[in-house]
Amino acid sequence: MTFAAQILTLYPEMFPGPLGHSIAGRALGEGKWSCDAIQIRDFATDKHKSVDDTPSGGGAGMVMRADVLARAVDAAIERQPDAPVLAMTPRGEPLTQALVRELVAGPGVTILCGRFEGIDERLFEGRPIRPVSIGDYVLSGGEAGALVVLDACIRLLPEVMGAPKSGDEESFENGLLEYPHYTRPNDWEGRTIPEVLRSGDHAKIAAWRKQKADDDTRLRRPDLWERHNGARDRPASGAR
Ligand code: ADE
Repeated sequence: MTFAAQILTLYPEMFPGPLGHSIAGRALGEGKWSCDAIQIRDFATDKHKSVDDTPSGGGAGMVMRADVLARAVDAAIERQPDAPVLAMTPRGEPLTQALVRELVAGPGVTILCGRFEGIDERLFEGRPIRPVSIGDYVLSGGEAGALVVLDACIRLLPEVMGAPKSGDEESFENGLLEYPHYTRPNDWEGRTIPEVLRSGDHAKIAAWRKQKADDDTRLRRPDLWERHNGARDRPASGAR
């Protein structure tokens, strides 16, 4: 089955972009996913084909019009009624591996790419659109975010990744960062590969990797570490 991606954007020429290469590009060529980039401006009705207007209440920049976007979204929903609709915006819920897994289990995804200062909020009130953010920083538009969502989905499609097993062990699948990797040469710039990895003792290797994943997560991603350990580590009083 083909995972069908529809992208609503003012810059359809940005797709498939980097996803036309490497693993995703091959999968696209093989029909494992499809990429339909739709020009939002085609749904504007005035003679200037305007898609934005000034923000109500004042302020900088422009806001994407709900009426134009709604027509674009409705057309996409009509084409693919069973695909969830995401809107890329820094105001959205964070993209997670869990959300990616959820998307990949479905027939595809429709992604609306925000531009300018944002999207008229009323669009989200009347339609099943899920605002999604790829991180706590502001991009110039949602297109790069849409590419991120699609890349994360495509690599999980059946028979897309070279080594199917590696999908389960990697970062975030168990709520932790993945353990570090090494490869030959054994001695590089005076640094050697940890001895245990060359021991052939699979139980010891697994234990070492688990410890490293824990240590690195605690150090680099205290937020993930906290969530992973749940209430167990939290002081009963709530004091710190
Ligand atoms: N558009 C602008 N910034 C974004 C972000 N962080 N995530 C998704 N879409 C965006």
